[in-house]
Amino acid sequence: MIPPLANDTFLRALRREPVPHVPVWLMRQAGRYLPEYNVVRRKAGSFMGLATSPSLAAEVTLQPLARYPLDAAILFSDILTVPDAMGLGLTFAEGEGPRFARTVSSDADVARLAVPPMDALRYVFDACAEIKRGLHGRVPLIGFAGSPFTLACYMIEGRGGSDFATVRRMAAARPDLLARIVDVNARAVSAYLAGQVAAGVDAVMLFDTWGGLLPWEAYARFSLAPMRAILSTLPPALPTIAFTKGGAQWLDALAGCGASCIGLDWTADLAAARARVGDRVALQGNLDPLVLTTDDRTVETAVRATLAAAGPAPGYVFNLGHGIVPDTSPELVDVLVRTVHAASAR
Ligand code: CP3
Repeated sequence: MIPPLANDTFLRALRREPVPHVPVWLMRQAGRYLPEYNVVRRKAGSFMGLATSPSLAAEVTLQPLARYPLDAAILFSDILTVPDAMGLGLTFAEGEGPRFARTVSSDADVARLAVPPMDALRYVFDACAEIKRGLHGRVPLIGFAGSPFTLACYMIEGRGGSDFATVRRMAAARPDLLARIVDVNARAVSAYLAGQVAAGVDAVMLFDTWGGLLPWEAYARFSLAPMRAILSTLPPALPTIAFTKGGAQWLDALAGCGASCIGLDWTADLAAARARVGDRVALQGNLDPLVLTTDDRTVETAVRATLAAAGPAPGYVFNLGHGIVPDTSPELVDVLVRTVHAASAR
């Protein structure tokens, strides 16, 4: 039996209800900056070895919660498990990031693409259930998926990059092909998140790392519309977060996508964003992750500035503006979490 949540501050903030302190969690809070993560990662042999083992994935999910009084756990997995289940052959070469053995670029590739059987992702659902048991109601568990467009970026290019030129060319020259890819991805992600919800996650987040690269019209069609479609299939009471890196320029449109909360990257003006969205949605963010590679005083000052920018309104979750970087100091994460709690307590 899993007891009711002892700390539901994070879920209350997403619902824009009053909270005793600002809740905090960090994107990539389980990762290479933690020595204990690297031990388990070595034992697993590879990133996918770790992600596909429900017990090891549960173990690393809980590692940052053993160190810090974080207000939420996030499933340890990756957004690229979905295209991997579509048969594209995902590997992570040491120090190089993700690679797909097969890419999706021709009409024939796109015609072959289909929503994978969710059994191929059973390991993720099993990890969710195991994490929920391990948390024993301490804090909520966040499930997640990549946005259909961000998944398409890796599927088309076959690897990470900085400008995704092939994808942007396809958006301009073959919008029909890109539309078909993001449509399959949207249906796959809906089924995938439904599986995570059935396994017990308390909230979900959509990561749209690359939508901000697109011209506005292409963003609206290939990134925002499929995210809205996915969100509309989730249980109405489930709190949701949508994060488009570089998306603050389209904040009004994003705030209407159906998510309870909009995640902001570190370039966004948080105070201006709050003034703009009012009480339509909650906001999450947006400290520059590199601040966690400085010193105590700098972290404290930057955390207080971020809290001040967020303002007193309910509906705010403290986070970084993107994932923790590997050379983050674990001690500074402690300073960050404690400062958020102490400075926002009422
Ligand atoms: O936030 C968390 O703690 C949950 C775990 C999580 C991971 N990836 C673990 C991971 C989440 C939410 C992701 C999402 C993800 N994965 C995104 C969207 C968010 C973002 O960062 O923009 C993207 C684009 C990916 C794809 C991906 N996975 C890349 C580009 C890389 C290599 C880059 C790197 O940091 O090395 C990964 C690998 C990955 N995913 C690692 C972790 C902890 C590091 C690999 C390792 O441990 O060997």
